[in-house]
Amino acid sequence: MSTDPRTDSSPSMRGRRVLVAGATGYLGRHLVDALVGAGCRVRVLVRRREQAVDFPSGVDVFVGQVTESATLSGATDGVDVVFSALGITRQRDGVTYMDVDYRGNLALLRLAESTGVSRFVYVSVLHGPDLRKTVRLVSAKEKFVDALTASPVSSVVVRPTGYFSDMGEFLTMAGRGAVYVFGGGHLSINPISGRDVAAACLRAADSNATDVPVGGPDVLTYEAIARAAFAAHRMPPRIRHIPRGLIVAVARALAWCTPEHVYGPLQFLTAVMTREMTAPPSGSDHLADYFARQVAGTGKSTPGHGAPAAGQVRSSA
Ligand SMILES: NC(=O)c1ccc[n+]([C@@H]2O[C@H](COP(=O)([O-])OP(=O)(O)OC[C@H]3O[C@@H](n4cnc5c(N)ncnc54)[C@H](OP(=O)(O)O)[C@@H]3O)[C@@H](O)[C@H]2O)c1
Repeated sequence: MSTDPRTDSSPSMRGRRVLVAGATGYLGRHLVDALVGAGCRVRVLVRRREQAVDFPSGVDVFVGQVTESATLSGATDGVDVVFSALGITRQRDGVTYMDVDYRGNLALLRLAESTGVSRFVYVSVLHGPDLRKTVRLVSAKEKFVDALTASPVSSVVVRPTGYFSDMGEFLTMAGRGAVYVFGGGHLSINPISGRDVAAACLRAADSNATDVPVGGPDVLTYEAIARAAFAAHRMPPRIRHIPRGLIVAVARALAWCTPEHVYGPLQFLTAVMTREMTAPPSGSDHLADYFARQVAGTGKSTPGHGAPAAGQVRSSA
């Protein structure tokens, strides 16, 4: 039985049959752990058979491609709740945000509709409705939110700020000797751990909420995050300021003359780092502790992964 108050706050999840898409990612792994801890019967959707080893024993692994809907047949059979943390964060497969964040999730939704799924939990991003106007990635995510909202399946959109995993870039830059921040570094964000987002997703699944903005417990300026990164390395801070106008101009220029996989990540980064990104605080994980664990080489916080999954591995074929 789980002793984690975060998962214990969703007691009615026990015994529920759930599917996690995006399960091999940073958030997805935490979601799987939280759902297993909450007593759910967990199936994960992965795209390669060898990814089955990534999950705790007992997890049912379904192999399918979200970009080829025929391969998903059967993935949601018997499933009560779908959790989707599926999306492109690092462009490398030659597919677009529309292919994965929109159409991939849409394929899952259509399947969920046809098999009687009762709730769909989708992870988008804070300020999605605003950011969709200018950011290609968010436009694809929010186009899926439109479809989800119009669907007969009950749904909730969880909108996190930035994950600790992404704040790791500050740690990497600090380790190399200098951290670059946009403008004065005075804008704020309350970054959140994968574990705390996962807990918020479970609570959202178990509620009537339709839209859940969520951030971590500490509101920090980017300057403060840079300093925390240097502190973790026990190095004196060397913070460089890139003029906001310059980075915005570069991002705009790249959007004109480079393909999506080049400009997309910078366009997203520029948009979120040049505005306030604070959401209602949740959870109890602190970024400074995460940085300290990463520097100490003990950052792997999801025990159980790496062992062969004892659950079934299957696909639609
Ligand atoms: N990172 C942040 O700070 C942040 C903040 C707010 C919202 N979000 C959103 O939260 C979600 C999870 O983020 P994350 O940081 O956990 O992402 P992540 O670690 O990059 O994981 C992404 C997941 O999507 C899957 N995926 C990506 N491209 C795919 C494709 N072409 N076909 C099939 N599967 C594909 C990956 O599978 P493979 O392992 O097989 O590649 C992985 O399971 C995303 O939707 C993201 O936009 C992230």
